Amino acid sequence: MNVKPELIYSPKAKVSQPLVCIIASDDLPDFIDLLDYEKVFISERLKRGDESVFLNTKPGYVAIVRVKNDLPLFRQHESLRKSASVLLERIKETLGTSVTITGNDVTASAVLAFAEGLILSLYRFDKYKTKESVEKGLPEKILVSYNIPESDFNWLKISCEAVYATRDMINEPPQKMTAQTFAAALRHLGSGSGFSTEILDKSRIAALRMGGLLGVNQGSIDPPEFCIMEYKPENAVNSKPLVLIGKGVVLDTGGLNLKPGDYMEQMKTDMAGGAAVAGAMYLIARARVPLYAIALVPVTDNRPGQNAIAPGDILTMHNGTTVEIMNTDAEGRLILADAISYACRFDPMIIVTLATLTGSAFMTFGTLASAIMGTAGEEYFQTLESCGEEVFERVARLPFWEEYEEALKSDIADIKNLGGKESGAISAGKFLASFASAPFIHVDIAGPAMLKKNDYYRTKDGPGTGVRMLAAFARSLATANVEKNKS
Ligand code: BES
Ligand code: ZN
Ligand code: ZN
Repeated sequence: MNVKPELIYSPKAKVSQPLVCIIASDDLPDFIDLLDYEKVFISERLKRGDESVFLNTKPGYVAIVRVKNDLPLFRQHESLRKSASVLLERIKETLGTSVTITGNDVTASAVLAFAEGLILSLYRFDKYKTKESVEKGLPEKILVSYNIPESDFNWLKISCEAVYATRDMINEPPQKMTAQTFAAALRHLGSGSGFSTEILDKSRIAALRMGGLLGVNQGSIDPPEFCIMEYKPENAVNSKPLVLIGKGVVLDTGGLNLKPGDYMEQMKTDMAGGAAVAGAMYLIARARVPLYAIALVPVTDNRPGQNAIAPGDILTMHNGTTVEIMNTDAEGRLILADAISYACRFDPMIIVTLATLTGSAFMTFGTLASAIMGTAGEEYFQTLESCGEEVFERVARLPFWEEYEEALKSDIADIKNLGGKESGAISAGKFLASFASAPFIHVDIAGPAMLKKNDYYRTKDGPGTGVRMLAAFARSLATANVEKNKS
């Protein structure tokens, strides 16, 4: 197994090669130990327009990366994250075990973006490899040697740990990541970061009459779990909590509407939303964001065994609503609906659901964006959109007109679990919204959260989409509430 890379803050250390230096102009900093002809080589490459130059020198390699000043800030940062993953291939060839990242006349955030891209690119899910399990040349120590506010460095370090932990949970094979192991993993995450976790077992779920979660679980051998994570710091700036809800389907076979062909291949990642809200809570709690936040994750697998629900069945949900099942593969909305109505008891400031909910969202945006929709006020949407840009987990809004509710009408129950063939991401969102009596935003991460191959620093299967965005969202809400409380 490869060693997990360590990010080390060493602002005062004398920088020495091997190093990566982020620069803003064509000028090379004089603290790098280079011979004249080496300087000429690098300068020429930069003048010619290369974004980065990699050069092996006597004391160790030098990699120069130029910030793309002509782009908006969030794109500059994304370009640096991607450069890190590209440069990693060259860095590996040198077989070194540590690297120093520094900068010359650039912002701290530029240096941090590169460091983030590098750490996130270094993630490996290799615990089940018994042969060739160690990859040569992956740096183990990443020293950040630049004048960076310590709190920004700490945020990045915890953020990368949160993403790693989230990826680990998602990538685990389904026979290992059962509902029970997933719940235990969430509890473990809490004890390592400072949020509390309560796990409701099947009897308590039954006592709460969560017909959606129980219904989806009917075809399984493993019982369901309902996880409640709470972070309530003494200095919280809000009294109504932010409630995050993540879909925790540890394997989606489709149920009796069994997924055909290769459609089931990636469905161990159908708990990516649940893992990501827990990852975000980890970051929020460890970074001590002064915000009262709760996360709920209903957990089960969706299988066609035993007494599995069938099309035509009618379930009675936690809030008493009856749902006609049209398709057992539309299971995410059933378990989330119970969590949403449960969330309302906390009188939330806002509810945000994160779910690999529909193929429709994937078909619409591919892996480039998550679909967002809901009933919350404009300022919440804008905050989420700008957080999405900042961390480059972009979100794109879908309309949420009341006419879309039409498709969910059932002849024999209050509502059915399937809209028409069209606009599937929206009708799924409408289904969820009908259970929310608080401001609500739904994020359908089906595209970006399940990757068939690596995309720069976003590693395949579960890249951990949503962790960084939701934590940034929580941090923004905390700041905004401080302002509100002042005025
Ligand atoms: N987990 C899937 C959503 C999904 C599908 C994510 C493909 C990524 C790729 C969800 O439970 C599902 O099966 N949705 C169905 C709903 C349909 C039956 C209304 C879908 O979108 O095809
Ligand atoms: Zn499904
Ligand atoms: Zn699903």
